[in-house]
Amino acid sequence: MAAAGRLSFSNITALAPMVRVGTLPMRLLALDYGADVVYCEELIDIKMAKCQRVVNDVLETVDFVAPDERVMFRTCEREKGRVVFQMGTADPERALVVARLVEPDVAAIDVNMGCPKEYSTKVSSCQDPPVALTILDETVSLVQRIEQTGVAAVAVHGRLKDERPRHPLHLDYIQAAAGAVSIPVIANGGSLDLVKTNKDIEDFRRTSGASSVMLARAAMWNASVFRAGGPLPLETVMEDYLKHAIRYNNHAFNTKYCLCQMLRDKVESPLGRRVQAAQTSAEISEALGLQEFYQQTQDKLQARRDAAHSGGAP
Ligand code: FNR
Repeated sequence: MAAAGRLSFSNITALAPMVRVGTLPMRLLALDYGADVVYCEELIDIKMAKCQRVVNDVLETVDFVAPDERVMFRTCEREKGRVVFQMGTADPERALVVARLVEPDVAAIDVNMGCPKEYSTKVSSCQDPPVALTILDETVSLVQRIEQTGVAAVAVHGRLKDERPRHPLHLDYIQAAAGAVSIPVIANGGSLDLVKTNKDIEDFRRTSGASSVMLARAAMWNASVFRAGGPLPLETVMEDYLKHAIRYNNHAFNTKYCLCQMLRDKVESPLGRRVQAAQTSAEISEALGLQEFYQQTQDKLQARRDAAHSGGAP
């Protein structure tokens, strides 16, 4: 991770990068509830390199817009200094082009190295102690080499390439990495069994020996896991999320996807069915009883558009 500015990765709790989930509304929700740092979904350098940076005066956002008009990355003042841009790249030159493009608008840039690496694809099991030791040695050596490149921090997931997210976490690998470098290590991978409540975040940080903690699934299911004051009911979290989605004109499909992830096993409940049936932002808002908020927000945004067209103040 390269830090642009003064973002510290020591003793922080972060929203992990999640494809489709880590768009602006989820990042703002995580910040509202107490996350210190929020990662965007992984964005591929090839697509980002073709984007235009556009200041959106109506939404008060900065948008990175693809040639087909799709907004690949949207950010706003509220997350300035806290948003980490995660890039998928296999090309250092293109990565640099994209890093320069987004640098003024993000707090740091993260390169996703969680994809298959030769060192981890060579082995399929760590049940065998010599194999486990080799992986441990290679993990330590890798994070040390990464540290030498001058990055600000490194996040360690604690699973092998062939393992699924449902498999138990290798806490010892995170501990080994944390003990091997002096830059902050961010412990990740604890959502399934280790981190269920806000208090567990601190326990995960301590037992892993890492400086910081990054949460993906626990936050996706109920982002109020970041709240020091305790969790909020799912319905409240969904409403808070939807308000951000409406305010920032999030794509309806993306909004619906995230709400369905939150619903999990309640996706067939009456509320779940209403969300599933909704096709537009207006319909999703109605499903959650936020039609009034939706309409008021649309009116406000329209007033801004009108003011911008007539050249007056909004
Ligand atoms: C992920 N993960 C992930 N990782 C990454 O580096 N870039 C990404 O874009 C994504 N996308 C993604 C989407 C979804 C829906 C999930 C659930 C996960 C992996 C994620 O950041 C994290 O490393 C793992 O989920 C383990 O952490 P948790 O879930 O145990 O907290």
